[in-house]
Parts: sequence; C-alpha cells; structure tokens
Amino acid sequence: MRDHFGRKVNYLRISITDLCNLRCVYCMPEEGVPKRRHATNLSFEEIEALVRAGADMGIDKIRLTGGEPLVRAGVLDLVKKLGAIPGIRDFAMTTNGILLPEMAADLKAAGLRRVNISLDTFDPEKYARITRCGRLEDALAGIDAAVAAGLTPLKINTVLIKGFNDDEIEAFVHYTKTRPVEVRFIELMPLGDGAEYAFGQYMPGEAVLARVPELVPAASPPGAPARLCTLPGALGKVGLINPISHRFCSDCNRIRLTADGKLKPCLHSDEELDVKALRGAGRSYREILEMAVSAKPERHHIDEHETIKKRNMNEIGG
Ligand code: GTP
Ligand code: 5AD
Ligand code: SF4
Repeated sequence: MRDHFGRKVNYLRISITDLCNLRCVYCMPEEGVPKRRHATNLSFEEIEALVRAGADMGIDKIRLTGGEPLVRAGVLDLVKKLGAIPGIRDFAMTTNGILLPEMAADLKAAGLRRVNISLDTFDPEKYARITRCGRLEDALAGIDAAVAAGLTPLKINTVLIKGFNDDEIEAFVHYTKTRPVEVRFIELMPLGDGAEYAFGQYMPGEAVLARVPELVPAASPPGAPARLCTLPGALGKVGLINPISHRFCSDCNRIRLTADGKLKPCLHSDEELDVKALRGAGRSYREILEMAVSAKPERHHIDEHETIKKRNMNEIGG
C-alpha cells in the first residue's frame, strides 16, 4: 500500500485497551479512564479480520499497544490468532513490563516475537513519581522475564524529561554496555491531557549526544524512527527517536488502530475512521484500510506548537 506521498505503509499499530496498571504523567490523567463498554472495543475476531486483510495488502509488521496491552483480558488468545496470520514477519508489543514476569513465557509460546518496554528511570522513588503508582522492581523484573523468554531483540523506551531524568542519560547509555538491548531516548510529545506537562519538560534528543560524546553512529534500519548509535565495544545500542527536533514523517510507514476501534492515519491527526461504523455501512476491511492509508497527512505539526487535545496517548498507543 502506498499513500499519496509515495510512502509504503506496511506497519499497523493496534491499541487493544486504553486501560493501564500505571498512570504515567505525560500519558494519561491521574484518575485513569472510565472502563469503556466492551462494545466500543473491537472484538478479537474483528481485529484478526482487519489484520488478515492488511496482510493481503502488504502489512507485514504489527504491534500491540495500549494503554497497557497485557491488562486486556484474553490477550494471549489474540496473540495466538494474530501470530498465525501468514505474511506477518514482525509481531511485537509495547508494554510497561509490569505483568511480564507472569506472562512472558506464554506470550512467546503464543507467537509474540519481541517487546519494547517503557522505563524512564532507574530510581525507585522517581519511577513511583512518573508512573504515579508503579514499582521499579516490577518493571526491572519484567525486563529480565522478557529476556529469559526470548522476547528479543529487546528495546527499552525512555522518554527524555528535562529536570526529571536528564541526570540519568549516562546511566541509560551505560546500561547498553553489557546488555544486547537498544535503549531509545524519545522526545516528549505534547498530547491530550499531558500536553501542558510536555511543553515544560521537553528536551531535544541531541542532548544525549552532548552528554555522552563517546557515542558513535551505527547503521540504522531504513524507515525506522530511531537513529542508532553505540558506545564503542558495547553489546547494545542507543536510539534517538526525535519526532520534534528531527521529524521522521517523510519515512512514515504506519497507521494505527485506537483502543475504541478507530483507524488513525497519523499519531497527531484528528482524522479517524470508525471501523465498526464503516463495516456497518458495508465497507470491507480492505476498503477501510485503503481509506486510512489515503488519508495520511504529509507530516505532523507538533513542532509548531500544535497540540491534539482530543486524544491522550493511552488511547492511541504511541
Ligand atoms: P520498533 O518497531 O521496535 O522500532 O518500534 P517502534 O518505535 O515503532 O514502537 P514503540 O511503540 O516502541 O514506539 C516508540 C516511541 O516512538 C513512542 O514514543 C511512540 O509514540 C513513538 N512513535 C512511534 N511511531 C511514531 C510515529 O509515527 N510518529 C511519532 N511522532 N512518534 C512515533
Ligand atoms: N511523548 C513521547 N513518548 C510517549 N510515550 C507515551 N506518551 C508519550 C509522549 N507524550 C511513550 C511511552 C511508551 C511508548 C508507546 O510511548 O513511554 O514507551
Ligand atoms: Fe507518521 Fe504522523 Fe508519526 Fe509523522 S507524526 S511519522 S506522519 S504517524
């Protein structure tokens, strides 16, 4: 599938719940979200049908996101269904890792290939503060469980937050010395309820290179948002995901499904396609996917201080 700007779209990100067992300050409101009525979520059968149609059209990479995808009841059944679809070569999940100690082995057995785990600090008190309720030791146990279960290559997502974790940049970079993981520093994006916070705490990804000048560029896979570098001799890599200072929209290869069943052509666009409603109006999954791809905007405008107030990150999945 190609969009109007000639970009090949092969990546579908699927948010399967907007609920989460944490409350990260830049992602969702302190009080959490009202449990959606089940009907507003797509069923596993509907998600499977959408992915099957996508696989026929060139989608070969899928990712389950949330909220926290592991809190959706029956997630293992969904992983089994999606893992069996021919044509999907990369099947990943983005998770906070808290539930991985009990679920990693089953996820692997069900067909999930790998996970990206969110971790913004190595300090237990700061972890409790940024997540509003999480325990660092649970997230670290989740990382260990993912590695033990072979949900690899493992990536760690670290949102760069000025005045919060800029003093830990070296620690995160040094973490890659002895571990074959990719630590990705992500520029804080202003979205929904977290937008105010993001404007005050943003720091550019380049700060990482300024702080750790020993980092040298490494080969980066084409089309991926993360620009990779490495410490000489390190087992792992460091990635810079800089959506604000170095927009990567010209290589954009993705569309997303929100937790309430809307296809979003871009993380930052207000435009959404209601999958259930379009199905009810007689559209095929193929047609709905084609509509989403052709609605992709050329780029986002968040670097021009445009914020999307309608949606919080926990509904879109990043
Ligand atoms: P890999 O396939 O492992 O490289 O994962 P990924 O980077 O596609 O997924 P992940 O869910 O780990 O996302 C990492 C960060 O990149 C999150 O903060 C996302 O919000 C951000 N991100 C992912 N896709 C996009 C995008 O299309 N646009 C923007 N602006 N940010 C994105
Ligand atoms: N800006 C940047 N990254 C974010 N994430 C969540 N909210 C934001 C934001 N406002 C990250 C999470 C997770 C990934 C899906 O997106 O930390 O790793
Ligand atoms: Fe694609 Fe939108 Fe992300 Fe840009 S912001 S890379 S257009 S999804």
